[in-house]
Amino acid sequence: MNYLAPSILSADFAKLGEQIKLIDTAGAQYVHFDVMDGNFVPNISFGAPILKSIRKYTQRKIDVHLMVEEPIRYVEDFAKAGADIITVHAEACKHLDRTIECIKEQGVLAGVALNPATPLSSIECILSKVDMVLIMSVNPGFGGQKLIPYTIEKVRKLKQMIEEKGYDIDIEVDGGINKDNVTEMLQAGANVFVAGSAVFGGDIEKNVHAFLEKLK
Ligand code: DX5
Ligand code: ZN
Repeated sequence: MNYLAPSILSADFAKLGEQIKLIDTAGAQYVHFDVMDGNFVPNISFGAPILKSIRKYTQRKIDVHLMVEEPIRYVEDFAKAGADIITVHAEACKHLDRTIECIKEQGVLAGVALNPATPLSSIECILSKVDMVLIMSVNPGFGGQKLIPYTIEKVRKLKQMIEEKGYDIDIEVDGGINKDNVTEMLQAGANVFVAGSAVFGGDIEKNVHAFLEKLK
């Protein structure tokens, strides 16, 4: 099954509830929620209180992407605020295994994310414990960047790794995904597609429909 996860980082924050309803009724399966701490990444976005507020606007899965140092400190807050999936960066955790266990103890799905230049070998040991791997296709921190081409091959290799082990793990791609490159990522093995500027720039409903058509 393929899923579209619009990143609300590119939404109009003054109309956030309204725009979340719009992507939901248009058929997007997830809401991607980018948390940035100004430390792990150079930008600052939003935190758990905002998640709690938007939880009321949708029944869709809220996919929380924590771009923060030592995310274990915030796992409980985001789970309580209504996250369905919590993804942490391997690069940001001193104790990745403990952090993944902590997410699972909260009763939510656990994801691990890798920056473009972080090798797949860094998550080999944790693979059996996660529900999703997020491959960053840009350097995290900002919406509207261009996809880094070598990350497509990385997705292909990850898919092969997962199949060889016989695991059931989603592969999410995030950064620079648009209607022109989504099919290549799909063919490489990804099945969860984050899109920020390509969904919220222009006609939101039309954009969601166009993506969903390509993900059929
Ligand atoms: C980047 C974030 C992304 C971002 C994607 O650091 O993790 O989720 O919002 O935005 P686009 O699709 O515009 O690259
Ligand atoms: Zn993200």
